[in-house]
Amino acid sequence: MTLRLATAGESHGPALVAILTGLPAGLVLDRDVIDADLKRRQEGYGRSPRQQIEQDRVEVLAGLRHGRTLGTPLALVVRNADHRNWTWGMNPWPPEGEPAGKGTKAVTLPRPGHADLAGVLKYGLGDVRDALERASARHTAVHVAAGAVAKALLASIDVAVEGSVVDEAGLRARIDEARKARDTVGGVIEVRARGVPPGLGSYASKDDRLDARLAAAVMGIQAVKGVEIGDGFALAGRFGSEAHDEIRTDRRRDTNHAGGIEAGTTNGEEVVVRAAMKPLPTLMKPLASVDLETGEQAQALVERSDVAAVEALAVVAEGAVAWELARAAHEKFGGDAVGDFVAARDAYLERIGWR
Ligand SMILES: Cc1cc2nc3c(=O)[nH]c(=O)nc-3n(C[C@H](O)[C@H](O)[C@H](O)COP(=O)(O)O)c2cc1C
Repeated sequence: MTLRLATAGESHGPALVAILTGLPAGLVLDRDVIDADLKRRQEGYGRSPRQQIEQDRVEVLAGLRHGRTLGTPLALVVRNADHRNWTWGMNPWPPEGEPAGKGTKAVTLPRPGHADLAGVLKYGLGDVRDALERASARHTAVHVAAGAVAKALLASIDVAVEGSVVDEAGLRARIDEARKARDTVGGVIEVRARGVPPGLGSYASKDDRLDARLAAAVMGIQAVKGVEIGDGFALAGRFGSEAHDEIRTDRRRDTNHAGGIEAGTTNGEEVVVRAAMKPLPTLMKPLASVDLETGEQAQALVERSDVAAVEALAVVAEGAVAWELARAAHEKFGGDAVGDFVAARDAYLERIGWR
């Protein structure tokens, strides 16, 4: 069975929801481990005060009993504590009583770089909020929870996934500078997966290629504008003799320019994915825009916002890579019970004599 993930939830709506299907039964989940990842996503230099309002915790509504998956759809919920300030503005139903709290006035000033203009045009919306609430990266919280479940499945076959910021010290200095100038910044993150067996993904068809799947998973995160596997873009400027990883008699490599993937298939080395994040589009010193109500030139919406979310992206991308690797591993090894999944991995490593 293929692992599938569907999510729903607006930034200031009641909650974020994820449904995970295809997970084997018997996978042990630890609520504290999932919550620790949710906390990591909320932290990081340059985040907005929203993070002090939210204390993200996972709730499980289905698919788990006494901490073990049942092999049935797993339903996860992360509530938005801030919704209490938006009960009128983000009420799923026509609200009763006088408008109160946040989100009562229509937003008509689209921000360059955000979903605002494209969203209202595409869906025929009169209020930019109807577009930005889902486009917002708030719902990455529930993706991180799903990523934590994927990491638990990967841990059963000794695979560990970790995201980090590239050049953290430089990033912090740029955040300080941007904050003073009421501006925003982006940055680069890296996700590494250790212990990945050779043979996940395939070159058979382009949809099977794990490099393409990982790129799509990471590019699918808000504000990611570039993804590379291994040495990626730098490979274009090298000679072949400097670009490829020579094979030893034990079939391992001393270098890893390929980032653990050749021909869309893992080769047993560490999987390395890097992503470039653009500067966040909500600026406290707004860019030029149009007022959609009057048609006049105006300044874009100013709304509480992060100066940077690069450290958060490292956690979100870690979850996205973990989910895609778990999917690829489960495609290869299968199993309705975790024990079957692990036994198939063991038999495969035995066959190829991989240590
Ligand atoms: C973890 C995370 C937090 C973000 N926080 C903000 C934010 O506070 N303000 C903002 O304008 N954009 C933020 N973004 C980026 C926007 O969601 C994103 O730029 C927007 O949805 C448009 O999509 P695009 O950049 O992929 O084109 C964040 C992105 C991530 C991954």
